[in-house]
Amino acid sequence: MAGKETVRVGLIGAGIMGEGHAAATFQDPRAKLVGVASLEGAEPLAKRFGAELATKDYREIIARKDIDLVLVATPDHLHYEICKAAIESGKHVLVEKPLTVDLGEADKLIEIVKRSGLKLMACFSHRWIPSYWATHERVAAGKIGRPVMAYARKNDRIWVPTKMLGWAAGTTPAWFLSSHDIDLVTWWMGDRATEVYATAVWGVLRGRGIETPDAVQAQVRFAKGGVATFESCWIYPDTFPSMTDSYIELIGESGVIHLDRKDEQLHVASEQAYEWPRIAIMPKIAGKQQGALTEVVQHMIACVRDDKEPLVTLESSRQVTAILDAIHRSIASGKPEKVL
Ligand SMILES: NC(=O)c1ccc[n+]([C@@H]2O[C@H](COP(=O)([O-])OP(=O)(O)OC[C@H]3O[C@@H](n4cnc5c(N)ncnc54)[C@H](O)[C@@H]3O)[C@@H](O)[C@H]2O)c1
Repeated sequence: MAGKETVRVGLIGAGIMGEGHAAATFQDPRAKLVGVASLEGAEPLAKRFGAELATKDYREIIARKDIDLVLVATPDHLHYEICKAAIESGKHVLVEKPLTVDLGEADKLIEIVKRSGLKLMACFSHRWIPSYWATHERVAAGKIGRPVMAYARKNDRIWVPTKMLGWAAGTTPAWFLSSHDIDLVTWWMGDRATEVYATAVWGVLRGRGIETPDAVQAQVRFAKGGVATFESCWIYPDTFPSMTDSYIELIGESGVIHLDRKDEQLHVASEQAYEWPRIAIMPKIAGKQQGALTEVVQHMIACVRDDKEPLVTLESSRQVTAILDAIHRSIASGKPEKVL
């Protein structure tokens, strides 16, 4: 685009994240939300954010000639089909993490994107959380020396797979949670993963009719000798004060960084509950949505408008899918698996 035009945006998926994408677009003077497609919730969101089209059928967004950028915020396993259709009809894409949940699909999608000359970025919004960004800057500046070991855990209350997501059986805690940590740690390590050994535990969720592991633990080895452990769990009791317990440790040859995000500085005790609300991704400040998701959506709008390269590369998002692919192969085989 020329740099002065408005980026015309279509949103597919009007759930929890879709609402944040719509608000971030609405608040950006360089963009206009044209349409929303979603099996549920398209109409109220379109109305609230001034979009002229609301539909259940995502193909109506894809077919519109006047849309430049499609935001995809559907469940993980639907990303590939929708992104492929959007790129093939000439639209730039911002897709929620993970890029795809199948490595073959990631490769096909990347090939189509590269042939098209269009931009596609996976929405690894955590890179825009200040402490994670600050870690990147310090590691890149050599403050902790060469990273050699990382530990990352992301564990949700059982409410997430049983009540919040209607599609938990279509994914795993590793795809849903560790994808963020894998993106962050591989970004900081600046290295290529080679081998994975992973194990999983089933029981509580299976007992509730949701066929996905309760917990996954994975060890990842990198080409230059670094190692990382990724844990994800979906059965914390709902009494845990935060929806997500999140902790990362990064050890370099001459320094250590700890990122403790189980709370986000806010502890609230009321007559109903004691809680640590999540406020880093989509906080509302003075009536406006702020935080990491707003930043990442507006970054993509700027990239499309000003023809800049998105910060999260296709290669790095492919590596996240490749590591998760090896994790799930290792769980199935009970052996270490190469990262393809
Ligand atoms: N970046 C982050 O921090 C973050 C956090 C949570 C979730 N996510 C990711 O965001 C995506 C969406 O998650 P969510 O929590 O908003 O889920 P959600 O269940 O709240 O919303 C999904 C939406 O997709 C719609 N949908 C489903 N199938 C569709 C189809 N075929 N066509 C059109 N619409 C369809 C549903 O109607 C629903 O509105 C997932 O990929 C998830 O992993 C990212």
